[in-house]
Amino acid sequence: MSKIEVKDGIYWVGAVDWDIRNFHGFSYTTHRGTSYNAYLIVDEKIALVDTVLKPFSAEMLERISEVVDPSKIDYIVMNHVESDHSSALPELLKIVPNAKVFGTAKCKSGLEKHFFCRMDFQTVKTGDELKLGNRTLMFIEAAMLHWPDSMFTYVKEDGLLLPNDAFGQHLASSWRFDDEVDQHVLMEEAAKYYANILLPLGPLVKKKIEEIVGMKIPINMIAPSHGIIWRRDPMKIVQAYMKWATNTTEKRVIIAYDTMWGSTEKMARAILEGIRSEGVEARIYRFPYSDASDIIGDILEARGLLVGSSTINNGILPTLAPFLTDVKGLKPKGRKAAAFGSYGWMGGATDEIEAALKAAGMEIVMPALKLNWVPTEEELKRCVEFGREFARKL
Ligand code: FEO
Repeated sequence: MSKIEVKDGIYWVGAVDWDIRNFHGFSYTTHRGTSYNAYLIVDEKIALVDTVLKPFSAEMLERISEVVDPSKIDYIVMNHVESDHSSALPELLKIVPNAKVFGTAKCKSGLEKHFFCRMDFQTVKTGDELKLGNRTLMFIEAAMLHWPDSMFTYVKEDGLLLPNDAFGQHLASSWRFDDEVDQHVLMEEAAKYYANILLPLGPLVKKKIEEIVGMKIPINMIAPSHGIIWRRDPMKIVQAYMKWATNTTEKRVIIAYDTMWGSTEKMARAILEGIRSEGVEARIYRFPYSDASDIIGDILEARGLLVGSSTINNGILPTLAPFLTDVKGLKPKGRKAAAFGSYGWMGGATDEIEAALKAAGMEIVMPALKLNWVPTEEELKRCVEFGREFARKL
């Protein structure tokens, strides 16, 4: 393995997980894999910031060994308790049992409850510093970005921010830096990541960014714990986060639906035609061919959401359930929404959809469009008009 130097004396010692396709208990599809980024800072004292997922412990230790003997590590900074960054810690502590571990108070209790192992833990708060020699680490608590224990580490002399999960992407690559990868893919994965992990936390994201800007600390590189490192223009992802955190959307409609015998599909296509005729872009996703986390990623910058389902057992088709669960949990604020669908003798699907959209905090701007059995030509014209009216309300 060749050394990967992020800054002079600071090394990426993480692991790329090319195979993972589901994250967070199958709630997030990772079509492009991910990486678990850990950073080794070599100074008079040697510090490791974050670790990796346990099955990748050996790879992390091998990468560290390319730079220094792992037993020489003095400090381990744990920015976050979640297993993808911490479950290699017990393996590491077998090699360096006397290393001092740094993290927030919630991190301490979280690590104890995850790994049941002894460690020399020092609790830190925002503004606390750790001198390594020529370099100084400063800690910034980041509670609920995205767990109560979360923390950022800032390397003062290098203007390097190590924000753990924040600003990350689930993207496996042989490259490590933003200027080396396809920009569209990078931003698409960053958006999907934000939408599926941080969307309900927008006010806290905004507040944290404003707090860090208020500190007036120079930031010339942001190295998250997943995916690609932002070195060409680190403010690009910060600005994107501010846009997403404030629910700044574009005139675009996401249509997500499933159909039993094709009637709801005909409705979806006619509604799209109506939206398009008003000069507004619409994108269609059908369940189960599309997955919830991809659609959530696309809702991030879309102002309108239309959800359709045929009625079965007086409710929605079961394929929509994971999506509606995600929408209710992630609460995309400030979006306009409506429901549609065909039915045979009872039309309960649209009621269930509307209830979920309301619970997500969306504004239902039109009564649901419900059609009996197969739509007639006249009824398809009503669908087109439904799409036109919805587009005009954006
Ligand atoms: Fe919250 Fe990447 O773990």
